Amino acid sequence: MEKRNISVTIIILSLINAVIIALVMFLLAYYKNYPINIDFILFSLFIAFLGSFFVIYFYYYEVVNKRVVDLSEKIRTTFLSKDIPLKQNLLEEADGLAQLDERVNQLIDIREKERMQFENLDSYRKEYLGNVSHELKTPIFNVQGYIDTLINGGINDPEINMDYLKRADKSIDRIINIIDDLETITQLESGEMHLEMEKFDITNLCKDIYSQLELNAAKTNISLLLTKKYDKPIYVIADKFRIRQVLVNLITNSIKYGKENGKTTINISNYNDDVIIEVSDNGMGIEEKHLPRLFERFYRIDKGRSREQGGTGLGLAIVKHILEAHKKSIHVESVVGKGTKFTFSLKATT
Ligand SMILES: Nc1ncnc2c1ncn2[C@@H]1O[C@H](COP(=O)(O)OP(=O)(O)O)[C@@H](O)[C@H]1O
Ligand SMILES: [Mg+2]
Repeated sequence: MEKRNISVTIIILSLINAVIIALVMFLLAYYKNYPINIDFILFSLFIAFLGSFFVIYFYYYEVVNKRVVDLSEKIRTTFLSKDIPLKQNLLEEADGLAQLDERVNQLIDIREKERMQFENLDSYRKEYLGNVSHELKTPIFNVQGYIDTLINGGINDPEINMDYLKRADKSIDRIINIIDDLETITQLESGEMHLEMEKFDITNLCKDIYSQLELNAAKTNISLLLTKKYDKPIYVIADKFRIRQVLVNLITNSIKYGKENGKTTINISNYNDDVIIEVSDNGMGIEEKHLPRLFERFYRIDKGRSREQGGTGLGLAIVKHILEAHKKSIHVESVVGKGTKFTFSLKATT
């Protein structure tokens, strides 16, 4: 409500009041047989108007308005942050109702945003818990199955006893993998992860990871290649342990989702102040509709295949978080049946 509206309202109220008072006086005079003339009526109307106006004006501004201003100030200090300004000019005489109106609207906006945040958080929490328990259930049930069989006589059967123990061991490895990944993701999401930035040679790290993963790749006869020899070092500033995690994840994926006799290639190049790292494969590729969700936790295109390969669906989510912690991003391009390329950058140094 505008200030002018309130003044107009007060004038109208005063006029109505004045008319009522004048009418009462007129009736009183009439019944008491006092002489009545137009001057008397106009005079009493005028006096009644002035009186009413001052009484209502002072009552409104000195009592009602002050309390309303106090109230909107209370809302601001209790619920709103100090930096939410009022739209109206504070140099003008404070119009309590307009202030209160604005504050209440700000309060409603904030509450609405909070409610949406809580709803999102709640559905995220439910989905997350559901995913975690679902992921853990499979290997735990497997272990239980193998142990049950062994207890019920299998332990004495040389055909299966060692085999079942090994399978149970593998399922336990899987549980540990899931828990490790969950721990990393929790640390990254709660901002607890502290990056240990250091200068290192990225070409050397790639070669090192290649030799670590060689045996893995050999299983499907996948060649791990570099586009050049890279006999000169290319230095970056980053958390070496975490970047190793990123590369291991990407290269392992290229092996897991690659084809027999395929290849994984890394290209490293300088671009302005950055070093660009591309990890490409000529594997199964990813349909375009999956690309926007690829970096979400637990998102997998072929759940069966991923589980079979020991995947948790958390790898790319971790990769994205680590690069974001470095204030960098990751980009993916893929053609089904042709292959996939992941590209990210790191800060270059000399
Ligand atoms: N190089 C790739 N080629 C084809 N598909 C891939 C590749 N990398 C990742 N994906 C797909 O993205 C999904 C998510 O990857 P990731 O987060 O690492 O989980 P996972 O534990 O399943 O490997 C995988 O399940 C797979 O379907
Ligand atoms: Mg993976």
